[in-house]
Amino acid sequence: MGKINAIITGVGGYVPDYVLTNEELSRMVDTNDEWIMTRVGIKERRILTEEGLGTSYMARKAAKQLMKKTGADPDSIDALIVATSTSDYHFPSTASIVIGKLGLKNAMAFDFSAACCGFLYSLNVASSMIQSGRYKRIILIGADKMSSATDYKDRNTCPLFGDGAAAVMLEGTEEENIGLIDSYLRTDGMGLPFLHMKAGGSVSPASHFTVDHRMHYTYQEGRTVFRYAVTNMSDDCALIAERNGLNKDNINWVIPHQANMRIIEAVAKRLELPMDQVMVNIEHYGNTSAATIPLAIWEYESKLKKGDNIIMTAFGAGFVHGANYLRWAYDGK
Ligand code: UT7
Repeated sequence: MGKINAIITGVGGYVPDYVLTNEELSRMVDTNDEWIMTRVGIKERRILTEEGLGTSYMARKAAKQLMKKTGADPDSIDALIVATSTSDYHFPSTASIVIGKLGLKNAMAFDFSAACCGFLYSLNVASSMIQSGRYKRIILIGADKMSSATDYKDRNTCPLFGDGAAAVMLEGTEEENIGLIDSYLRTDGMGLPFLHMKAGGSVSPASHFTVDHRMHYTYQEGRTVFRYAVTNMSDDCALIAERNGLNKDNINWVIPHQANMRIIEAVAKRLELPMDQVMVNIEHYGNTSAATIPLAIWEYESKLKKGDNIIMTAFGAGFVHGANYLRWAYDGK
């Protein structure tokens, strides 16, 4: 058997119905539509408001749509991976809950933790699993209920995040020069002070103190994270483009993590690409962490053509960052 390449053969997505607008936020904290639009580029975000529902609910909805669209036999799925930072519980994994609800019988399931790079990183890992020949069909989901980790009394962070999930099917092919071609992924372990959740983990388990001091929310030093995000995402894209002979004339799409419109524009500028070749959904969904990139693929699927050269890039807590080079495997539907 020849070399196996890993290709995406379908995509499904889900966002909750509730739309939290800038206008509503401005009644909760001292902010306004003009600040949020000019500094970040977000107009509204979706929030999973139903009590008792977590990330697995959205992940399951996205996977269900994916399975319906691809018509894949549930018994043929070998693995299901959920990239998330907002798991339903510390344990078991969110993936194990999703698999139970979907009734998949022949698959192993695990969660993947790489913050906003969750999809970028796990696409690389899942593709390697496919390339090994031991896994034929993998469902890979990026899902985050960021509203569960957001302090709606903190104007520095509450406008930024939203909830959502999207899933892709990964399969193998012997066709050459298709699927995930190259990855440049790095972790710079000095990021902890600038972006983290202060409590709820093993260092500082939940207590009256941690709740009283509002320590179960996303803490971010925005300006520092912004600087690192622009530099790293732009450099990573330039590096992966250069080593694969890609440039503004043969890149079809860039899929940047959706944290700030100004970061997205900086990446486009570095690659000298017009904005209509950049997938953008930040205005309506905000930062859905591990879900931003697959949600963008879900929304733009109909525009994609077989052989399109795609660069995806992200940056997040850790710090984690990097870029993938993907050649798309089917005409949009
Ligand atoms: O996905 C993981 C990776 N995360 C990112 O990539 C996010 C990176 N960071 C950012 O996107 C930006 O830093 C933010 C959007 C978080 C903040 O934008 P900024 O332009 O860096 O603003 P800033 O934090 O420097 O704040 C500027 C001013 C401050 O006022 P003073 O101190 O200059 O008087 C803030 O208090 O804006 C004020 N401000 C607000 N004003 C109205 C901060 N938040 C708000 C708000 N509404 N919501």
